[in-house]
Amino acid sequence: MRHESILLLGGSGFIGSHIAAQLAATGRHVIVPTRRYDRARHLLVLPTVQIVEADIMDDATLSSLVQRADAVINLVGVLHSQQSRAGSKWGRDFERAHVELTRKLVRSCRTQNVRRCVHMSALGVGLNAPSMYLRSKAAAEKIILEAPFLDVTIMRPSVVFGEEDKFLNLFAKLQKFMPVLALGGADAKFQPVYVKDVAQAFVSVIDNQQTYGKTFDLVGPSVYTLRELIKLAGMYSGHERPLIGLPHFLAKLQAWMLEFMPGGPLMSRDNVDSMQVDNVAGPRSQLPPDWKATPLEAVAPHYLARD
Ligand SMILES: NC(=O)c1ccc[n+]([C@@H]2O[C@H](COP(=O)([O-])OP(=O)(O)OC[C@H]3O[C@@H](n4cnc5c(N)ncnc54)[C@H](OP(=O)(O)O)[C@@H]3O)[C@@H](O)[C@H]2O)c1
Repeated sequence: MRHESILLLGGSGFIGSHIAAQLAATGRHVIVPTRRYDRARHLLVLPTVQIVEADIMDDATLSSLVQRADAVINLVGVLHSQQSRAGSKWGRDFERAHVELTRKLVRSCRTQNVRRCVHMSALGVGLNAPSMYLRSKAAAEKIILEAPFLDVTIMRPSVVFGEEDKFLNLFAKLQKFMPVLALGGADAKFQPVYVKDVAQAFVSVIDNQQTYGKTFDLVGPSVYTLRELIKLAGMYSGHERPLIGLPHFLAKLQAWMLEFMPGGPLMSRDNVDSMQVDNVAGPRSQLPPDWKATPLEAVAPHYLARD
């Protein structure tokens, strides 16, 4: 069955915009809710994409959006949250965006009889993982997988790179303005994956019944330490600087100070905790069918060299 009308939650963001473009290229109707219309304005050029300013945390609003679709893709996620309170395993923002929204989505899909859902998770999730981000993402996976009436596919990417990423671009920018970088997690391993490949994975599974009930890891062809990625970002942008690796306790102290930065932290204590486990595919990882990942070296030099 071809799904013709897709509700794309989180479609205004970095990855969502690429998924919206690729879905639109297949001629499907794509509904993109956003809290602020301005954030999705760049999607106006896509003829079959409809932007709706809406509060998807409101049950009635979410239900009416789900009603207009025959499949849902849920990408909503945040990277930072307040610290957890006593008795809670993650902070309030993670609870709302990852756990509560997923619960609401399951309810709306049930009442509106929408069965197909592709859900964005993250590589390394686990209920006992070292960070609130990874634990709350695991809780969301559990909620959606336990909904018996849903045909779910879960996607777990490693860190995602691409022209508008907040990862390699950030490290390039930091090296432009700082004489030396001091960072924790320098030896943590990542397997970065290209945003267009991530989008292609979502589009390729949406109608594929063989992917129902499956979880796929989305990883690039190579593994790098954070130190190596920072070096590449510096090299490609023409501002390579020395990097001092900080021990865990100093990295946490630095992150704690960064959390007071206006406009959101560059790195939080929770991000430092996430890096205690490598973010790479394991022996049991499954990739989506017929999916091929683009090497970072084929793409990143072009956009990092811009400024
Ligand atoms: N980027 C990566 O390297 C990476 C790696 C692994 C997994 N992921 C996961 O992939 C997903 C998308 O990531 P991204 O990098 O594209 O993120 P992004 O650019 O920050 O976009 C986040 C999207 O989520 C929506 N959103 C966030 N909080 C919300 C809330 N409380 N209520 C309603 N909408 C909310 C935003 O909508 P508005 O328009 O309303 O702001 C936006 O469309 C996330 O779940 C993330 O955890 C990302």
